[in-house]
Amino acid sequence: MALINILFGSQSGNAQNLANVISESLTNEGFDSPIFDMGSIDPENIHDMDYVVIVTSTWGDGEAPDNASEWMSYLKFNEELNLSHVNFAVLGLGDTYYPHFCQCGKDFEQYLSKHGGHSLVRRIDCDLYYEEQYPEWLSELIEVLKNKLKE
Ligand SMILES: Cc1cc2nc3c(=O)[nH]c(=O)nc-3n(C[C@H](O)[C@H](O)[C@H](O)COP(=O)(O)O)c2cc1C
Repeated sequence: MALINILFGSQSGNAQNLANVISESLTNEGFDSPIFDMGSIDPENIHDMDYVVIVTSTWGDGEAPDNASEWMSYLKFNEELNLSHVNFAVLGLGDTYYPHFCQCGKDFEQYLSKHGGHSLVRRIDCDLYYEEQYPEWLSELIEVLKNKLKE
């Protein structure tokens, strides 16, 4: 079965923790869902990934956390990418106090779509109380993956 690759961008650990929870839930549902720190894996690896779940916070003034900045630049500045094989889901973590709420998640979605990727579920932009917000999104993602991969 296809790997559901969980990629996280995180500065202070929230998105990393959530990525672990998501990976565990997918594993419990019978999926193979390896987890990757975006800072530890070359963005070119996306060409070998059919399923990608991006879990990322936003830092600075609407920017990617440090460990996700190389992936962001790769997707943003390579005009010729063909990612039509990629099925993706994006969960953004942020804080509505900031004017560019969850901008990094929004940008990842925009660039993955621009390069031909297919969205599996609506993007979710989570505020500081993300622990209450993400479960419904995760259930939706699991249902979609079950329908696609376990027919
Ligand atoms: C210095 C600083 C800048 C931030 N900038 C933004 C921002 O521009 N937009 C946003 O939605 N959240 C912003 N946040 C909130 C973080 O994204 C939020 O706290 C998130 O849960 C952190 O997740 P992480 O621990 O995985 O990095 C900022 C937080 C800090 C401390």
